Amino acid sequence: MSHFNQTFNRKNTASLKWDLMEKVYTIPDASSIIPMWVADMDFAAPSFITESLKARLDFPLFGYTFENEACATAVTSWVKRRHNWHIHNDDIMYHQGVVPAIATIIEAFTTEDDAVIVNSPVYPPFFNIPRQLGRTVVSSPFIEKKGRLYFDFDHFERLLQDDKVKIFVFCHPHNPAGRVWSQDELVKIDALCAANNVLIISDEIHCDLMLNGEQHIPLAKVSATPDNIITCMAPTKTFNIAGIQASMMITSDAKKRLKIQNTLAKHGQMGLNTFAITAVQAAFSDAGIEWLNDLIPYLNANLDYAIDTIEKALPNITITKPDATYLMWIDIRKTGIAEKEIMQKLLDAGVALDPGTKYGADFDGFLRMNIACTRQTLEQGVERFIKAFN
Ligand SMILES: Cc1ncc(COP(=O)(O)O)c(C=O)c1O
Repeated sequence: MSHFNQTFNRKNTASLKWDLMEKVYTIPDASSIIPMWVADMDFAAPSFITESLKARLDFPLFGYTFENEACATAVTSWVKRRHNWHIHNDDIMYHQGVVPAIATIIEAFTTEDDAVIVNSPVYPPFFNIPRQLGRTVVSSPFIEKKGRLYFDFDHFERLLQDDKVKIFVFCHPHNPAGRVWSQDELVKIDALCAANNVLIISDEIHCDLMLNGEQHIPLAKVSATPDNIITCMAPTKTFNIAGIQASMMITSDAKKRLKIQNTLAKHGQMGLNTFAITAVQAAFSDAGIEWLNDLIPYLNANLDYAIDTIEKALPNITITKPDATYLMWIDIRKTGIAEKEIMQKLLDAGVALDPGTKYGADFDGFLRMNIACTRQTLEQGVERFIKAFN
């Protein structure tokens, strides 16, 4: 039996996914609801991470720590082995998460008069953060062809040509649709941004969760102007340790690093905590590669099962299998059911998903489902999903 079949009761563990549903969905009691919303997995973190954390706890000194060379070397050797991307230890800066990293970079490189480009649909902090920082957000909607998302490069280029636009926040691979961008697409995105002096924040947090056996292509690796890119990565999605909080900001441009460091200092940011440093080193190891070799087939099988079962039971619903991530972007437009109504029906049937409009105002007609749970839980979740539509 796969160790991913082990069931845990995450209730009352301060789990955002399991314990915050009452508040988020404004319901009195969510005790019988299966959460398929927040992007973390219901699987145990790998034992090579938990063992190294235990070992660190056994050394009972918890004074100030910093991200030492061993930590940086774990990152550089991971991206080299896994993504064939050669970076230097000095290229790396750290933050508690990719979301605060994006906020820091936007703050460092823009003023309130500037604008930031994001695609649509996209992970909500991409547009919420710049807005909260008082920056204008301009949206480059994807074009959909047979359920797959593509850049509208003409529209994207027109937006880039506006002098106010200073940053493009890129989701690579994409959340919520799980799209992996091809090398040709990456080269074009890179060239258009460089030609218009627009800095790219390339959020590659999902890059270790490629489902189709292909190698992830870091944007900066194929860029003609890598100094124009700040890549954000993390071990947290990959190894299900988001609560430990760790991320990396990587750029070859020393001047940009200095600017980011000054912005971090402005907020008194001290980087990673002791346990995050330990976890980064443990995660980015040979054992990490082996663990992913077990995880990816489990996720693939879950996705195949969920897509097949839903599409057979509900022919009006279409799901394009993601190229990466454990998230499904479900197209329910043909059912004609309004978002508010289906969200309520889903909760009544006992399952919580993300509404499409969370990812952009135009996406009433879509839902996002997280399938990173045991097959048993998934079967129940899918059954409840189908019941809500019936
Ligand atoms: C594209 C993307 N970026 C960032 C995050 C969150 O990153 P962190 O927890 O490191 O802030 C997520 C989580 O779902 C995500 O999907």
